[in-house]
Amino acid sequence: WTIPPGTLDMPASEQAVTEAALLLRQGGIVAFPTETVYGLGADATRTEAVGRVFEAKGRPSDNPLIVHIADPSQLAAFVDADAVGEAERRLMAAFWPGPLTVVLPVRPGALSPLVTAGLTTVGVRIPDHPLALALLRRANVPVAAPSANRSGKPSPTSAQHVADDLAGRIDGLLDGGTTGVGVESTVVRVDAGALHVLRPGGVTRQQLAAALPELPIRDATAADAEVPRAPGMKYAHYAPQGRLTVVQPAQPADRSAVRDYIRAQLRAAREAGERSGVLTFDEHVHDFAAEADVVLSYGPLGAPEQAAQRLYDALRAFDAAEAACILAEAVPEAGGGIGEAVMNRLRKAAGHRIVFV
Ligand code: TXA
Ligand code: MG
Repeated sequence: WTIPPGTLDMPASEQAVTEAALLLRQGGIVAFPTETVYGLGADATRTEAVGRVFEAKGRPSDNPLIVHIADPSQLAAFVDADAVGEAERRLMAAFWPGPLTVVLPVRPGALSPLVTAGLTTVGVRIPDHPLALALLRRANVPVAAPSANRSGKPSPTSAQHVADDLAGRIDGLLDGGTTGVGVESTVVRVDAGALHVLRPGGVTRQQLAAALPELPIRDATAADAEVPRAPGMKYAHYAPQGRLTVVQPAQPADRSAVRDYIRAQLRAAREAGERSGVLTFDEHVHDFAAEADVVLSYGPLGAPEQAAQRLYDALRAFDAAEAACILAEAVPEAGGGIGEAVMNRLRKAAGHRIVFV
C-alpha cells in the first residue's frame, strides 16, 4: 500500500478506507482528504507513528499537530469534560463537523507528547468530509494530522499535491479529489473572556461573531495579543520557489494603479530574462495575458471562496512553470470573510513582500 512515486490509489474505495484505518491502528501514517486540505494522519497516542509524520514532512518538532476525531464523544479520552467551557461547547455545536480547530487543555499523558509539542493544550477538530469521517470512525483512535505537504510548501488541495511532496515517505494516500474550502481550519482558543483567533481559516470571523455574539474576538496576530499565536505561524510557509509580491490597491476603489504596477514589473522581469507569473481575477486576466508567461485566476471578483479553493494549487503551478517573478493581486478582506484567511496565507507565501500602490 506504500505509494511509489507518481502513482495514486484512485478513487478511494470502501476497501481503501478499511485498509487505511487498519494502517493507522498499526502505527502507519496515511494521507487523507478533509474539507480544508489533505492531512497526514497518525494515531495520536503512538509516539513512534507521530514521529514519522514529523519526519515525512520535515516539520520542526516545536510545532504541535491538530487532533482529528469523528465524534465529540471521543474527546473524553484526552480532554477532561470540566475543562470544556460553555463557549467551547457552543463553538463545537455550531461548527463541528467543519473547519474550526478548538484549543483545549489536554489530559496529561493521554496523547503522545509529540502531538502537543510539550504544550498543556491540544487543538481538536471534526473534519467535514465523508472520507475523513469514515476513516476516523473506522480507525476509532484520535488521529493527529498536520497538512500533508512538505514543511514550508503550499498545503495540498489534491491527492496529486500530496503524492508530489510525500510519495515514498508515507504508507498510504486516500484520494478524495480536490478539497472544498482550500485553506486550513480556523484555530481558536477561548481565554480570559475572549475568543482568540490563532489562525484565520475556513470558519470566518463573521461566522464566529454570529455564533458567539457576546464574546469579543481578539486577533492573536495583532501586536497586543495576550496569547501566543499558533506556534506554526512563525515559520515560513506556503512559499513558491519564485519571488512572490502581493499588490494591493491603496485606494480600494481604484485598481488601475495595481494593473499598471504589475504590468511594469512584468516588463522588467522580461528584460531581466526571468519567467513571470500573475495571480489575478477572471475579469483581469486579459490585462496580463500578453505580458506574463503564466496567468492564473482566483476565479471571478467577489467570490473569495473560489480564491481560497484555488490559492495553493496556483502557488504550486507557478513552481511547475518555473516562474521566477510572481505578482498576486490582493483579495479583498473587508467584512470578516474568507478573504482574511486567503490574505493571511498570501502574505506568508510572499514573505510579507506587499506593495500598496
Ligand atoms: O485544516 C486544517 O487544520 C488541516 C487539516 C489537515 O485538518 N490541518 C492543519 O494542520 O492545517 P497544521 O499542522 O498544518 O497546522 C496546525 C496549526 C499550526 O499553526 C499549529 O501551530 C496550531 O495549529 N496548533 C496546533 N495545536 C495547537 C495548540 N495546542 N495551541 C495553539 N496552536 C496550535
Ligand atoms: Mg500546515
